[in-house]
Formats: sequence, structure tokens, C-alpha cells
Amino acid sequence: MENIDYPQYGFTRDALLKKIASQMSQKRFTHVLGVEKAALTLAKKNNCDLTKASLAALTHDYAKERSDADFLAMIDKKKLDPDLKNWNNNIWHGMVGQYFVAEELGIEDPEILKAIAVHTTGDQKMSTLAKILYVADYIEENRHFPGVEKARQVAAENLDAAVAFETQHTLLYLMENKKSIYPLALATYNAYVAKP
Ligand SMILES: [Fe+2]
Ligand SMILES: [Fe+2]
Repeated sequence: MENIDYPQYGFTRDALLKKIASQMSQKRFTHVLGVEKAALTLAKKNNCDLTKASLAALTHDYAKERSDADFLAMIDKKKLDPDLKNWNNNIWHGMVGQYFVAEELGIEDPEILKAIAVHTTGDQKMSTLAKILYVADYIEENRHFPGVEKARQVAAENLDAAVAFETQHTLLYLMENKKSIYPLALATYNAYVAKP
């Protein structure tokens, strides 16, 4: 990973890592580095641009520790769907977090921003990059939960199958715990898990 740098974006890897680290706990920063490692492995296997995979992974949780007030203000500022205000940090840090990444880090590549936007929900149509980020976030080496080994195994074999595995297990978890389900997550389920 040391050989990945970002001259075309106008910053160095060191500068980017410093900015990202300044926004989050050490634990979350370790997670972010783990996601990058997993994303690069998946990107090599699935013919995805390594620089984009690195940037999407490093920045995906950039806004995770922002206040609710920051997210609500950004929803107003960007005139986003007002329904977003009924949700919470789990949804905001991706859907709305992408705008903090664009404004504060100067990353404007639409494919990277879209991947960040849907990294917790998935989407009915996902780019290879979006799938990689979605899966890498779930299987990175610092994750420990029942089923993670199986998820890693599926991811090593087939990216779409890994999207399906993760989506099914995430929705099962949400239902078992009576947590709300963002509609886009159901669209991901219908697209990747449900049989025709
Ligand atoms: Fe996240
Ligand atoms: Fe994450």
C-alpha cells in the first residue's frame, strides 16, 4: 500500500492519512486501514482501479464521528431528500458523508463518492468499486463476528456472492434486533439475494 499515492488528486498519502486520522478514534482508523487492505485485495482480483479502491476505503468512514447537527445541516445545504432526516448516523455517514469527503478532502470522483454513499446499504445497481467497498467494510481483518470467516471465503471466490451473503446476514441481524431497515437495503436484497 505504501506505493499507492494520489498525485492526480493534489495530495500525498501521508497528508490524506493525517486528515482522516484527525476525524476519528484510533480504533476506527485501524478499521479504515483494514478496509483498504481488504479492498485492494478484492480490487486486484476483480480488475478494479487500485487507486480508487484505496481512496474509497480510506475515506468511507471519514464523516462517521460527525455530530447529528452537522449531518442535518449538510442535508439542508445540499437540498437532499428530506426523508434522510428521519434516519440516523448509520445511514448519514455514507449518504451524507460523501459530501464531507468531497468538500473537505477534495475527492470528487463520482464513482468513489457513490461507493461511499452506499457502503452501508448497498444499492440495486452497484459498480465493482461500490461492491468492493461494501464487502471490504464487512470482512476486513479487524472484524470479529460469527460468520465473518465464511464471508471472507465467499469474497475470495465471488464478489457478487459476497454482496449477497453480506446483505442477507445484515438484514437478518437488523430484523432479529428489531432495527429499522433503510429502503435501499431492501432494494439491494431484492437485486442480489432474492431468487427470481
Ligand atoms: Fe461505515
Ligand atoms: Fe467502515
